[in-house]
Amino acid sequence: MALALAAPVNGSSNSTVSRSKTILLTNDDGFTATNIRATYRELKAAGYNVIMVAPVSQRSGYSGKFDLPTTANLTTDGEFGYVKKGSPSWGHEEDDKNIWYFNGTPGSSVAFALNYVIPTFFNNVSVDLTVAGPNEGTNLGIGMYTISGTIGATYNSVYRGIPGIAFSGSNGNNSFFKDYEAQANDANFSSNIYAKKVVEFVDQLYKGAANNTSLLPEGTGINVNLPLVGSDNSSCTDPNWIHTRFSGPDSTASDLFYNKTSGLVEYQSGHLAALNTFTFGDKTLPGESHILASNNCESSVTVFSIDYDASLAQTNAVGELLQPIFSTSTRFTPTQPSWWKF
Ligand SMILES: *[C@@H]1O[C@H](CO)[C@@H](O)[C@H](O)[C@H]1NC(C)=O
Ligand SMILES: *[C@@H]1O[C@H](CO)[C@@H](O)[C@H](O)[C@H]1NC(C)=O
Ligand SMILES: *[C@@H]1O[C@H](CO)[C@@H](O)[C@H](O)[C@H]1NC(C)=O
Ligand SMILES: *[C@@H]1O[C@H](CO)[C@@H](O)[C@H](O)[C@H]1NC(C)=O
Ligand SMILES: *[C@@H]1O[C@H](CO)[C@@H](O)[C@H](O)[C@H]1NC(C)=O
Ligand SMILES: *[C@@H]1O[C@H](CO)[C@@H](O)[C@H](O)[C@H]1NC(C)=O
Ligand SMILES: *[C@@H]1O[C@H](CO)[C@@H](O)[C@H](O)[C@H]1NC(C)=O
Ligand SMILES: *[C@@H]1O[C@H](CO)[C@@H](O)[C@H](O)[C@H]1NC(C)=O
Repeated sequence: MALALAAPVNGSSNSTVSRSKTILLTNDDGFTATNIRATYRELKAAGYNVIMVAPVSQRSGYSGKFDLPTTANLTTDGEFGYVKKGSPSWGHEEDDKNIWYFNGTPGSSVAFALNYVIPTFFNNVSVDLTVAGPNEGTNLGIGMYTISGTIGATYNSVYRGIPGIAFSGSNGNNSFFKDYEAQANDANFSSNIYAKKVVEFVDQLYKGAANNTSLLPEGTGINVNLPLVGSDNSSCTDPNWIHTRFSGPDSTASDLFYNKTSGLVEYQSGHLAALNTFTFGDKTLPGESHILASNNCESSVTVFSIDYDASLAQTNAVGELLQPIFSTSTRFTPTQPSWWKF
């Protein structure tokens, strides 16, 4: 069978697509987290127009949950008491109209930014990319994909046709940016190293996709995890990027055990049976959990799709089991995206 070569997406082989260079920045640790503030600063310094819209409180583990404010004003203080109880449920820094908080989850913060903040206050500028994080703590493997608010923000952006990248650092301390203002110019400070690595990654994406209408193929996102660096590990200051996949050895997900002494069931992370399943993508790539567990000063870069359908083989296998109870319904022909080559 002959394969048609895909035409360049912008319809011209020798022009570079013009972009707004606008990046929506969000996270799940809240808009007062040190990692996101450092990343805001470095992306701006690199020439991007950055609009930060992030939860006013800590929303780790909220996955794609879509909470909206139910009151006009906050009924409790925001994270670290930075925004006080009684303040409006959304707003921006007094001295920076590009830094917004929202009393919602990561997923709803993305929608709030794209459907309200940007059309209303930023002349509806087109957003090239959503960057989420860097999270305080890693988000590795299939198990975390469904739990992480950082990844939840990312797929909420990808749903809306805006490419998204989730960045997660290994520096787990939930830190307040005001406590680390003295470190703003410390090149060894882990949040600053992460911020520089985000810029390096985003710069390359803009360069690589210079001739494409969108920075990533439709329905695609990226999950990046960074190791301990600099002030948290002086022997790793400039981690290498490794192309990875979600599954594979060292993958874990949430599990529990019964503790006889306390009489409680307690959390443990488990190497669960099917986490090493390989169904899609490139089987030869190392798993992201394995790369971080290897402690080789490497960051993992896993590409994901928001089309969660099972493979044709899996779909057919299950279809066969249930065939006697299925009735036929109207078949739709899906629209193939322009990058689809097979
Ligand atoms: C984009 O197109 C220009 C002009 O054809 C070409 O010189 C350049 O190599 C292309 N860039 C990429 C990343 O493909
Ligand atoms: C919310 O707070 C603003 C001041 O920030 C105040 O003017 C307004 O009355 C408050 N609204 C409610 C419903 O409490
Ligand atoms: C903003 O732009 C988007 C896409 O470019 C469009 O769908 C939307 O209607 C615009 N909104 C407003 C308020 O102009
Ligand atoms: C963790 O973050 C909090 C809030 O910023 C800070 O007060 C504390 O000193 C930090 N702890 C460590 C070990 O860095
Ligand atoms: C984007 O650009 C690259 C490099 O020019 C090209 O190889 C790729 O097919 C394009 N991808 C999409 C989804 O347009
Ligand atoms: C970076 O921070 C670590 C931990 O505080 C320290 O051991 C190391 O010497 C620092 N490196 C530089 C270049 O400042
Ligand atoms: C079980 O609970 C006891 C009492 O709270 C605690 O000291 C112990 O560390 C727990 N065991 C494990 C394996 O976590
Ligand atoms: C620090 O980084 C080095 C080099 O990647 C690695 O060998 C070491 O295990 C790391 N230490 C910690 C505590 O992560």
